[in-house]
Amino acid sequence: MLKIFKPCDFHVHLREGNLAKFVLKENNKYFQKILVMPNLSRSITNSNLLLKYKKHILKYNKGSQILFTIYLNSECNLKDLKKMHKLNLFSAVKLYPLNATTNSSSGVQDIKKMSKYFEFLEKHNIPLCIHGEHVHHNDDPFEREKKFLDNELSWIISNFKSLKITLEHITTKDSVKFVKSHKNIAATITTHHLLENTYTFLGSNLRPELFCKPIIKNHKHQKELQKVALSGHKQFFFGSDSAPHLKKAKFADSCCAGVYSTKYATSNILEFFWSNKKTDNLNKFLTINGSNHYGLDYDKKLCKYKRNKTAKFQKYTKFQDDYLINYNFYKNLWTRI
Ligand code: NCD
Ligand code: ZN
Repeated sequence: MLKIFKPCDFHVHLREGNLAKFVLKENNKYFQKILVMPNLSRSITNSNLLLKYKKHILKYNKGSQILFTIYLNSECNLKDLKKMHKLNLFSAVKLYPLNATTNSSSGVQDIKKMSKYFEFLEKHNIPLCIHGEHVHHNDDPFEREKKFLDNELSWIISNFKSLKITLEHITTKDSVKFVKSHKNIAATITTHHLLENTYTFLGSNLRPELFCKPIIKNHKHQKELQKVALSGHKQFFFGSDSAPHLKKAKFADSCCAGVYSTKYATSNILEFFWSNKKTDNLNKFLTINGSNHYGLDYDKKLCKYKRNKTAKFQKYTKFQDDYLINYNFYKNLWTRI
């Protein structure tokens, strides 16, 4: 049996409409806080869109603290950002490089043109969440994250020295090293990047349900992610990047990027820390480090979890006339008691 604080997920996609209602319900079961990403079909770049989205989400929320984000691009208006910040309407802004991932066609092509926004964020101590991939024609997708560190991220931190940054869903040993050597940066780690590698993803049969951005890396990189997560290092914490797509869109002529991992995320993380005898660091990875990074208090009530022999992994969840594909790694499943 394990007793931990109710976990937080500092990177999740709820989507919109009925799907958001459905996915939020699942999140309410498992997480005390969630940081919700703004890459909707019309990205959330202003207060009107944010307020509309908030209204929809908060109507269905049952008990989780929902932290909202703004999609940062050159459409954003500084006055509007200031107003939203004053009213405490959002917790962070998110930067997507142009065409790096799902719904990023209004992302940023040249980060050097974003200086006025970075200045504003730095001045007001607002965290900048970054999808850290350098996307360029004919480049190797496995190299994107490292290239982003060398090009964009290095430039940002040398020009905005006190800007608080979350490098999202890191996948490489290079990012682990980079984050450790910069005290204003923290990083989220997903379940699938912790537990899978290129061998399990495409070493025998290709598994479309594991296709995501950044693409899953090899075992050497995976080991470094595992080591730093298990260590409880304060600059690293959980962000599932759970990103629901319908089965017909995943198993299609062209497979979209995103892994839906919410349902078994806690179970996978508990089993991972348990089997590595590091359960003392679970609260740090799941609740404390991320809350501290975002300057938030958290619920310290302890919840009990146990390995549940009767629980069965359900790969598909029916949604309307289609399915969501649940991600799970371990045979042993943990449930709350
Ligand atoms: C995410 C999605 O589907 O919204 N996809 C993904 O592959 N991770 C977007 C993102 O976080 O990159
Ligand atoms: Zn994401």
